[in-house]
Amino acid sequence: MRQDKIGIAYENKTQNSKALFTRGTRLFAGGINHNVRLFKPYPFFSEGANGKFIFDVDSNRYTDYWMGHWSLILGHSPKPVVKTLSEQLHKGTLYGTPNGASLELAELIQKLMPSAELLRFSSTGSEATMYAVRLARAKSRKRVIAKITGGWHGFNTTLMHSVNYPFHSPEGTGLIAEEEQFVESLPFNNLDSSLKILQSVIDDIACILLEPILAGAGCITPDINYLLGLQEFAHKNDILLIFDEIVTGFRLSIGGAIQKYGLNPDLFTLGKIVGGGMPIGVVCGKKEIMTLADPTIPADSEFRCNIGGGTYSCNPMTMMAGLATIKYLDENKNEIYSKIDGLGAKARSGLTKIFSEANIDAHITGEGSLFLTHFLNDKVKIIKNATDVSLSDQKSLYRYHLALMTLNQIFFLPGKMGAISYEHSEADIDQLLMATQRILESGLV
Ligand SMILES: Cc1ncc(COP(=O)(O)O)c(C=O)c1O
Repeated sequence: MRQDKIGIAYENKTQNSKALFTRGTRLFAGGINHNVRLFKPYPFFSEGANGKFIFDVDSNRYTDYWMGHWSLILGHSPKPVVKTLSEQLHKGTLYGTPNGASLELAELIQKLMPSAELLRFSSTGSEATMYAVRLARAKSRKRVIAKITGGWHGFNTTLMHSVNYPFHSPEGTGLIAEEEQFVESLPFNNLDSSLKILQSVIDDIACILLEPILAGAGCITPDINYLLGLQEFAHKNDILLIFDEIVTGFRLSIGGAIQKYGLNPDLFTLGKIVGGGMPIGVVCGKKEIMTLADPTIPADSEFRCNIGGGTYSCNPMTMMAGLATIKYLDENKNEIYSKIDGLGAKARSGLTKIFSEANIDAHITGEGSLFLTHFLNDKVKIIKNATDVSLSDQKSLYRYHLALMTLNQIFFLPGKMGAISYEHSEADIDQLLMATQRILESGLV
C-alpha cells in the first residue's frame, strides 16, 4: 500500500472531515487558517481532545504527538488548567486592564528564567519575535537581522525570510524585496561560515536571532559550540543576541535552553507552553533594552520604542492557564522532565534501531521530549541544518506519518516533529515503535 492507497484508507476513515474540509474551502483560502496544518489529502477535523488523545469528527481516536503545535506539555486539558479556567470563566475572560495574574505569571517566569529582567506579554509568538527585533534595532540603531537559514519565527514580515528551501527566494508575494537586504541568514551549526557572514555586515547588524533547536525546520539540535561561538561573537562585537525559546522554553528544562545550555542572551521570546493551551507570546530580556518599551518615555524621545501587546495581551484566561501550567511544571519538575526526556530517548533509540534493522537509512533527530525521523538518501547522510532536511526524502516521511495516522491511530502532523507530553507513557512509545516496525515490514515506506 503506497501513499495513494494510504490516502484512500485515510479518506475512508475520515469522511466527515472530508465534508467539513470541502465546506471550509468555501470559507477559508485553501480551507485552512494556518498553512502548516494543511496536509494531503486533507486534515482531519477535531471534535475533542483529552490527555494524550485527540478525537476527530469520524470517531477516530489518535495518540497525539503534535500536541497543539508542541505546546501542551501536560497533555490536553490537564486538571490544574481546567480547574483554574473554569473558575476564571465566571470572573471575566478579558478585562482590558492590568491584572494580578499577569504579575504572578511574570514573577514565576522571572524566578525560573532570571534573564527575564523585564517582560511584555502578547497573544502570539509571531508578535513576540517581531517586538524583539524592533527592540534590538531601537537599542542598537542598526538595521540588519541575522537569522538561521530555515529558522521559523512566525508570520511577521520582518522574519519571513529564508524560511523555505531554497531559502534565497522571497517567501511569497506581498513582502517587500527591499526589506530582505536587512536580513542575513546563517547556516546552522556552521560557525566559520556564520561568522564570515556576520563579519560582512558588522557595521549595520542589530541582532542575531535564533532558536536553540530548529523546531519547525526539522527538529535539529545545536552543536553547543555553535551557540556559544555565536554568543561570544555577539558579545564581543556589541551585537544583541536573541534566543527564540517559543518551542524550547519550559520544554528542554524548567529554565529552557538558556538554562540547559548555559546561554546568556540579551532578549528572548516565549510562547506555546507558557500559555497553558491559551494564546500567548512573551518578549523578555535585559532591563536596559526592555525599558525602551516604556510608554512613559516621551513620544518624541529618541529612546522610545513602541511595541504592542494587543487587545488580548495578558488576558486573565491565558494568564491563569499559563500560571497553572508553569506552577505545576515547577512543583513537579524532576518527575516531569525525567519522564518526558526518558520517553524521548526511548523513542529516538528505538526508532534508530528499527530503521537500521530494516536497512533504511534514517536519522532520528531531537533532544529531550522532541524527536523527528528523517529519511536519508544519496544527497543527505546526516541532518545538521535545514538544507539537509529539505534535501532528505520528505515524501517517505510524509507517507510514514500518514501511515501512522491511518493504520495505527498515532498522530504526527505529517512531516513535523513530535512532542511528548507528561500524559504519554512507555506503552505509547512501545506502540509507536511496533507501529513503525509494522509499517516498514509491509513496505509502506
Ligand atoms: C520558534 C518559533 N517562533 C515563533 C513561532 C510563532 O508563534 P505563533 O505561532 O504563536 O505566532 C513559532 C510557531 O510555531 C515557533 O516555532
